[in-house]
Amino acid sequence: MTSIKVLAPMAGITDAKFCLKMIPAGFDMVTLGGYNIDKETIDAGEKILLRGRSEFEISEEDYFEVINNQARKIKEKWNGLVSVNLRSITPDPVIEISKIKEIDVVEVNAHCRQREIIDTGCGQALLQKPDFLEEFVSDVVKKSQSKVSVKIRANSEGADDLKIAKSIESAGANFIHVDAMKPGVNHADFNIISQISKEVNIFLIGNNSIVNIESARKMLNMGANGISIARAAMNGLDGFDLSKI
Ligand SMILES: Cc1cc2nc3c(=O)[nH]c(=O)nc-3n(C[C@H](O)[C@H](O)[C@H](O)COP(=O)(O)O)c2cc1C
Repeated sequence: MTSIKVLAPMAGITDAKFCLKMIPAGFDMVTLGGYNIDKETIDAGEKILLRGRSEFEISEEDYFEVINNQARKIKEKWNGLVSVNLRSITPDPVIEISKIKEIDVVEVNAHCRQREIIDTGCGQALLQKPDFLEEFVSDVVKKSQSKVSVKIRANSEGADDLKIAKSIESAGANFIHVDAMKPGVNHADFNIISQISKEVNIFLIGNNSIVNIESARKMLNMGANGISIARAAMNGLDGFDLSKI
């Protein structure tokens, strides 16, 4: 497996314009979204907006067209991989998005920790129900016309990261995308990346606090097959040359 460099999702920021701006830095895959794509998560997103946090605001009627347009804008100019991070309480809207020709990967968001999203049973709440998550992902995998990724947050209270990783693999996902966040430290939890890489054989994208060559190489040395970057992209990578990883 070759290592890949992924632009991680940032709701309200990673639209086609932002992705196209970042691609020349050396990304192999860019992630649009996260988008809320069913009534429950769209309502939750509206509440999040009201308390001032940025989200992509789309209606249930428009989400397919909005994502289609964003993906098309990228593919008109670039031949790399386009992923889209999605929040939904059922698999069907995710399967629907997988039909978009310009989307290479649909990413199930089992990561979001915004209270309003968790209250719908989506995002990080999915980590508390590995069996349900496995069924959900399995359904997406069976019917998806794109590859399937699942984004998780490590070290979420009460969650068993290794069990979750196994569930995602059993469900047949192509990628597991791990935000190796560890409360109280300002670097990634490389130990959890190493443990997950030993537990599963699917393509592991390691994420969190990758800001330079050293942190990127460390993530790969600890067992990740690829890396993803979010916040460092917001400041234009600040001299971090992805081609040197
Ligand atoms: C403003 C902002 C919005 C984010 N939105 C999403 C999102 O919609 N979906 C998601 O899976 N992760 C989201 N994330 C998390 C990032 O993708 C990434 O996992 C996290 O920031 C850690 O990586 P980093 O240290 O490279 O920033 C967001 C992060 C930021 C800073």
